[in-house]
Amino acid sequence: MYRTHNCGQLSLANVGERVILSGWVQKSRDLGGMTFLDLRDRYGITQLVFNMETNPALCETARKLGREFVIRGEGTVAERSNKNPQMATGEIEILVEKLDILSRSIVPPFTIEDKSDGGDDIRMKYRYLDLRRSPVRKNLQLRHQMAMEVRKYLSQEGFLEVETPVLIKSTPEGARDFVVPSRMNPGEFYALPQSPQTFKQLLMVAGFDKYFQIVKCFRDEDLRADRQPEFTQIDCEMSFVDRDDLLEAFEGLAKHLFRTIKGVEIEGAFPKMAYDEAMARFGNDKPDLRFGLEISEMTKMVQQKGFQVFDSVEYVGAICAPGCAGYSRKQLDDLTDFVKRPQLGMKGLVYARLQEDGTLKSSVDKFFDEAALKEWAQMLGAKPGDLMLVLAGERALTLKALSELRLEMGTRLGLRDPDTFIPLWVVDFPLLEWDEETSRFHAMHHPFTSPHETDIELLRTDPGKVRAKAYDLVINGVEIGGGSIRIHDEGLQKLMFDKLGFTEEEARKQFGFLMSAFRYGAPPHGGIAFGFDRWVAMFAGIDSIRDVIAFPKNNAGRDVMIDTPSTISEAQLKELYLRVTL
Ligand code: AMO
Repeated sequence: MYRTHNCGQLSLANVGERVILSGWVQKSRDLGGMTFLDLRDRYGITQLVFNMETNPALCETARKLGREFVIRGEGTVAERSNKNPQMATGEIEILVEKLDILSRSIVPPFTIEDKSDGGDDIRMKYRYLDLRRSPVRKNLQLRHQMAMEVRKYLSQEGFLEVETPVLIKSTPEGARDFVVPSRMNPGEFYALPQSPQTFKQLLMVAGFDKYFQIVKCFRDEDLRADRQPEFTQIDCEMSFVDRDDLLEAFEGLAKHLFRTIKGVEIEGAFPKMAYDEAMARFGNDKPDLRFGLEISEMTKMVQQKGFQVFDSVEYVGAICAPGCAGYSRKQLDDLTDFVKRPQLGMKGLVYARLQEDGTLKSSVDKFFDEAALKEWAQMLGAKPGDLMLVLAGERALTLKALSELRLEMGTRLGLRDPDTFIPLWVVDFPLLEWDEETSRFHAMHHPFTSPHETDIELLRTDPGKVRAKAYDLVINGVEIGGGSIRIHDEGLQKLMFDKLGFTEEEARKQFGFLMSAFRYGAPPHGGIAFGFDRWVAMFAGIDSIRDVIAFPKNNAGRDVMIDTPSTISEAQLKELYLRVTL
């Protein structure tokens, strides 16, 4: 027998019992005639004690055990004289009488403790050792619990989990596909799904009514903290629903997860905000509503006052940072550098202090007198002690920079409390967005997204103005999910493909199967997909989704543990009719 209990289980209630534990040696300490050893498994850590006086041979063996040896210890549970309230098992220890080494370990490349000395790269290379650390393991336990609750809730609500294929044809989510060559069909390729989008719509045509799947999706795009090339969605679709039915249904799921996982009750319906409003007020289609610092447009108010920087641009806007009027030169230079970073590309930052005594001082005093600055303060709702931060430039770029500046100030002012959760539905996205590079419209969500009925005419006359029945669930500034009501009419779908610049032939080639399906009675339907990794990371209170994935890829899309992507043999290439022309 390897164990009677696990390493997180024993307490004062077990004192006097004879037990067997197995696990990994976390660390050992020799103190005079005693050797103490922390034994770890998934469930916790238990202290083992070896006594030189009563059993010198065993104590000698224990002293020779290295970190991460796998051992089995048998002995009696005793109350500790020196209790450790930080540990679940901190009131007891095991007086070991028998010890077996089950497996030895070479010296691990980093310390396997909550705070490891290992850098990111080394921990990823030895991820199986990193996964022994409890913070990482806890994230995966949370992930498991959330998956269980998702399945429980959606099943109760009548959703069926259906698996969809992984070797498919290109899907329309707008990223690059990962492709897989087909040996049996020379010169032809599968694409890995960017999402199961077309299949879930086919399941609605098939009458499945309510579908979900916790599913891997694959997108070949530039990676960031919240993006992995393979990630997991909670993918859902429903029939006979319009937008608000669907939002209500999935608010139910969100509330269930908040309640069961975080113990947080969210009362009432989640607020909705139109895309245009989110952009104007927050410069962003995923606003963090935990704090204000909203953006105010100042273009008209500040132009034609002789300040060339403002006069020459499309847009001027500002935020007001409460209590920051006393910011030092250095702090202001820091903020200026922040907005001038290449990612934001602003030319500079204008500021105005509304000082505690009510006087105003700005970096543009030459052009704007006290009366003009008062108008600014009024517009921005500034109070004595506040700092106004103004940016000017091309509208979209400046809004983006203001949005980043707002988030930065929110962080600096401690306004983004990780234990407060404010959900928001962002709705009424534009259906199409114009792409200068290719001089054509792209679907902002995907080509199956339905326009608002009232906007269908605009699709012919002014496509850029058409609003979509699309929505995102945003929590604390993170896009947790997105979806739409779909087009279920063949004619409208054709018009949409036409607006996207697909010829009929191209549309048929890529999505003919879906178009044909729509000719056999398609129910009105819609759906949503949640970024499962993002949701888990948010509940775990961490920024990077890598920390909630057992075996993630690094920023270059590599798995450094198994060392992939990697080359394949000439024979494999030949079999696939491929030639590498690097
Ligand atoms: P969308 O493309 O918005 O919609 O994706 C849904 C959600 O998936 C998450 N997500 C990602 N998470 C990690 N890494 C990535 N690379 C990544 N890309 C997306 C986000 C996002 O909100 N088929 C549609 C859904 C629908 O219309 O029903 C879709 O995939 O949290």
